[in-house]
Amino acid sequence: AAAEKGGWSSFMAKEVSEEPEAVANTIRGRIHEGTVVIPELDGLDDLFSGISRIVVIACGTAAYAGQVGKYALEKWARVPVDVELAHEFRYRDPVIGPGTLVVSISQSGETMDTLMAVKFAREQGAKTLSICNTQGATIPRESDAVVYTHAGPEVAVASTKAFVAQITALYLLALHVGRIRDTIAAVDIAEHVRELEAIPAKIQRVLTLEQAHIEQLAHWMADTRSVLFLGRNVGYPIALEGALKLKEISYIHAEGFAAGELKHGPIALVEPGQPVFVLVPSPRHSALLHSKVVSNIQEIQARGARVIVIAEEGDAAVLPFADEVLHIPLAGAMFEPLLAVVPLHIFAMGLATARGLDVDQPRNLAKSVTVE
Ligand code: G6P
Repeated sequence: AAAEKGGWSSFMAKEVSEEPEAVANTIRGRIHEGTVVIPELDGLDDLFSGISRIVVIACGTAAYAGQVGKYALEKWARVPVDVELAHEFRYRDPVIGPGTLVVSISQSGETMDTLMAVKFAREQGAKTLSICNTQGATIPRESDAVVYTHAGPEVAVASTKAFVAQITALYLLALHVGRIRDTIAAVDIAEHVRELEAIPAKIQRVLTLEQAHIEQLAHWMADTRSVLFLGRNVGYPIALEGALKLKEISYIHAEGFAAGELKHGPIALVEPGQPVFVLVPSPRHSALLHSKVVSNIQEIQARGARVIVIAEEGDAAVLPFADEVLHIPLAGAMFEPLLAVVPLHIFAMGLATARGLDVDQPRNLAKSVTVE
C-alpha cells in the first residue's frame, strides 16, 4: 500500500496533489480551436436542444459539484437548473418528463441512491446524462449519455480530485450546451476555455505556496470544536464542501452558510474564538459582492470570530479584518471555486492528521454506498 501511495502519507494527500492533473485530464481532448468539443456527445444534440429544464442529481460531494455547475449551466446555457439530492428527488413525485434533462454526478457510478434516481427519471421519460469517474460503471450504463471525468482512481473515502474534475466536466458541458443552444458567443466560449486551461497551473500554485501554511494552521487548530464556512455565489457550495470534508475526516462539527444568510441566523453562533473561513469573491468581477462579503467579515470579526479568509492575491481590503489570509491566484469569476476549494481540502486533511486520525478511512463512512 505504501508503494501505491507513491511516497505520500495517505491516499488523500496523493489525491489532493493530483488535483491539477484531474482538471487537465478532464479537459484533454475536449477543446479544439477555442471551443468545446465533447466527442462522447457527438450526434446527441437532441439531448440539449429540446429541453426546458435540467435537474442535477447526486449525493455528498458530487451534489456540491452540481451546485457549482448550476451557476455555469444557467449563465452560459440559459437553462433553468435544479440541483437535488438523489434520495430526495425520487420520493416526492417530481415534475419531470421528456423536456427534462437529468444530469447525474457520481465519482463511483455505483451510488445506489443516485442510480435509483436515474432509473426513475428514465421511467418518467426524462433524458439522462451521467458525469462519472469510473469507466463502464452502472450509472453511465443506465444513462443516455456520459461525460467521464478523468481524475483517475480515487481511493480515499473523502472525495477531492474527483470534485474538481466534476466541476470541470460541468463547465465543459455548460459551454457545449450553450454552443448548441446558441446562448453564448464564440468569443466568450474561447475566453472561458482559456480560463479553464489555466486552472491546473493555478491549483498547483496554491499547493506550492499555501500547503505548508495551511497545514501549520490546521495543526494549531487541532483542538477546535467547531468551524464555520461562509461563501457567496459560486463560493457558497464551496463553503458547504469545506464543511463536509471537515465533518467526514476530522469529526469536527462544521457548517457552511451562504454569506448573505449570516444576518438571518448563523451570526448568533459567532462567539469569541469561533473559527470562520470566509471565501471572498474577487473585487475585479464584482465590487458589490466583494464589499458585501468584506462587511460580513467585519461583522463576525467584531464579535470575536477567528477569521480565516480565502481571497485572491492582491486583495488588500480583507487584510485589516482577517486573522489569516490564504491566497488563490486570479481567475475568472466562475473559476474561483476550482481554486478556493484546494485550501479547504488541505485544511481538512491537516486537521484530521493533527488529531491523529486515519484520513483515508474515516469511521462510519464508505467510499461508495451501494445500498439505499
Ligand atoms: C459516499 C462517500 C462520499 C461521496 C458520496 C457520493 O457517501 O463517502 O465521499 O461524495 O458517496 O459518491 P459518488 O461515488 O456517487 O460520487
